[in-house]
Amino acid sequence: MSQEMSEIVDAVTGSRRLRRNRRFDWSRRLVQEYTLTANDFILPVFIIEGSNREEDIGAMPNVSRYTVDRAVDVVKEARDLGIPAIAPFPNVSIDKRDVTGSEISNADNLICEFTRAIKKAVPDIGIITDSALDPFTSHGHDGVLRDGQIVNDESVAQIVKGSLVQADAGSDIIAPSDMMDGRIGAIRLALDDAGHNDVAIMSYTAKYASGFYGPYREAIGTDGLLQGDKKTYYIDPANSEDAMREAELDIAEGADMVMVKPGMPYLDIVRRMKDTFGMPTFAYQVSGEYSMIESAAANGYIDGERVMMESLLAFKRAGADGILTYHGMKAARLLASAG
Ligand code: PBG
Repeated sequence: MSQEMSEIVDAVTGSRRLRRNRRFDWSRRLVQEYTLTANDFILPVFIIEGSNREEDIGAMPNVSRYTVDRAVDVVKEARDLGIPAIAPFPNVSIDKRDVTGSEISNADNLICEFTRAIKKAVPDIGIITDSALDPFTSHGHDGVLRDGQIVNDESVAQIVKGSLVQADAGSDIIAPSDMMDGRIGAIRLALDDAGHNDVAIMSYTAKYASGFYGPYREAIGTDGLLQGDKKTYYIDPANSEDAMREAELDIAEGADMVMVKPGMPYLDIVRRMKDTFGMPTFAYQVSGEYSMIESAAANGYIDGERVMMESLLAFKRAGADGILTYHGMKAARLLASAG
């Protein structure tokens, strides 16, 4: 290289060379800002009725649905790996789904059965239950459908009933994923009235009307049912201020934790929410994000493990305190083996 070029670069950098810190493995570790541990993960678990069965999910490679007895073993492994909490999502038989999602208030529904079983068998892991109606409606919406409209307040009443049976069953955190107005305040009031003052609320605060939920709908069996779309209650992907207003209201209504969903395409929202409100802030790396990584890896287009870890670290960098991720178990195993 010519003498002239190093003089030119020195003239530009004034001898400030950022690459010095990147030279060695030890120096890179020394200046590293963010780290990922199993404490950062919340593991979603798909559950089905019956016993001793595990089913594949076509659109989600390496993710299964489990009967409650089999799910217990999965949750034990998650606990042993240091994952702090799990989030069950049920796929119930079609005869249990109706227009108002009435199964949500059945104290023996699949979510409650799972919650009781986990509390008994794995008491030291947190259980975060979703009180949205979609697993239980015949039309796949998160609320009650009347004359082609998702009616807000009747939906909130159903969601409150679901939250109460879930808390009775032992749920630690109620996490409504529906985006109905006023549901956080209504749930808080009802929980307190029922003596569940210690049950927390993690609000799906900024949930976007996203195309990334496709595989999940196959997993819980709403893919063939959903009529229309969810644009009248989820946030428009073109909006950012809307998410801030949702957060303001959820926090005022009593949310203990807020969440952004989907994850990777909405890291700007995670960062904004964390900076603005300073709340415990979570991100949901959703099914479509998971399946894109897994299927590209299966095709040999990317290094799956590397991209998985990079994507999870990105949430930390954006300000998330934790990540709901279908990669939770695999990532926790990898972190454990790395010591
Ligand atoms: C609905 C709900 C959704 C997800 C969890 N609960 C979205 C939807 O079906 O519209 C998505 C999760 C995922 O894609 O991983 N309340």
